Amino acid sequence: MKLSVPGRLPTALTAAATAALLTGTSLAWADPAPRAAAATPDIPLANVQAHLAQLQSIATANGGNRAHGRPGYRASLDYVKAKLDAAGFTTTVQQFTSSGRTGYNLVADWPGGDTDRVLMAGSHLDSVSAGPGINDNGSGSAALLETALAVSRAGYHPAKHLRFAWWGAEELGMVGSRTYLNRLAAADRARIGGYLNFDMIGSPNPGYFVYDDDPAIEKTFKDYFTGLGVATEPETEGDGRSDHAPFKNAGIPVGGLFSGADYVKTAAQAAKWGGTAGRAFDRCYHASCDTSADIDATALNRNADALAYVVWALSS
Ligand code: TRP
Ligand code: ZN
Repeated sequence: MKLSVPGRLPTALTAAATAALLTGTSLAWADPAPRAAAATPDIPLANVQAHLAQLQSIATANGGNRAHGRPGYRASLDYVKAKLDAAGFTTTVQQFTSSGRTGYNLVADWPGGDTDRVLMAGSHLDSVSAGPGINDNGSGSAALLETALAVSRAGYHPAKHLRFAWWGAEELGMVGSRTYLNRLAAADRARIGGYLNFDMIGSPNPGYFVYDDDPAIEKTFKDYFTGLGVATEPETEGDGRSDHAPFKNAGIPVGGLFSGADYVKTAAQAAKWGGTAGRAFDRCYHASCDTSADIDATALNRNADALAYVVWALSS
């Protein structure tokens, strides 16, 4: 592994993270191996859609939502956990209390790899109470799950250690991810070289936004979309608006994808991405109509494949 330090370093490095940087063990500074591109499996869209159908059914059977502290959240977590357990992941359920209700994170470690160099990828699994939360954030949760299952199917042996997380209570202020980091020992925090976040990646009137944060991670995502011939824009709206924020605050390099929420698509954006100018990226954001009908399959497919590409490239 070659140590290549990109132009910008994350701020607020802990002493341990600084030590990791100096010894070249922080993942975001790795040179992503070009051979990883060929090795990355295509993520089957139908499988991601099947997970979304299950999350939709869970919401329908539980009062129309999958919100923190409600039965639809726990059922969502149990669904994801069962798939991961069957695929050979080591899963941990982390319990916490917020607003007087019990919440959970689900953390899934893929056995193997260098546990001093951990790549994490996460999505929040809770919805708002107003609706089933299929784009926000069944989409990220389902694509992340299918990527983890693809890791298992491939019998992938990455050089780095892979850890996936499904966060609870993001909609209450990133409670799950903040709890995870608060409880993590400093030494374990320093082992995490990068965190990838996926919150809303199947918006019905989609944009293709790549978090404008750690340069090495951002470049790896952009390389994938360049290969597809799909233009991207830097995502800056999300600073502080999803579960990558606590990681960034802890000095961990972050990146991720976003297909848009309540902001309105401009004419220039419609010209390059299609869809409808003058309309929100997701008109059903935080609403009861955020159902499996609220998903753009092309955006979901591209973003799921990009997710897997970056997980492979940064962990190989
Ligand atoms: N985190 C927000 C939510 O779950 C969604 C969101 C809005 C977002 N804008 C964003 C996520 C920008 C990432 C980036 O309600
Ligand atoms: Zn969200």
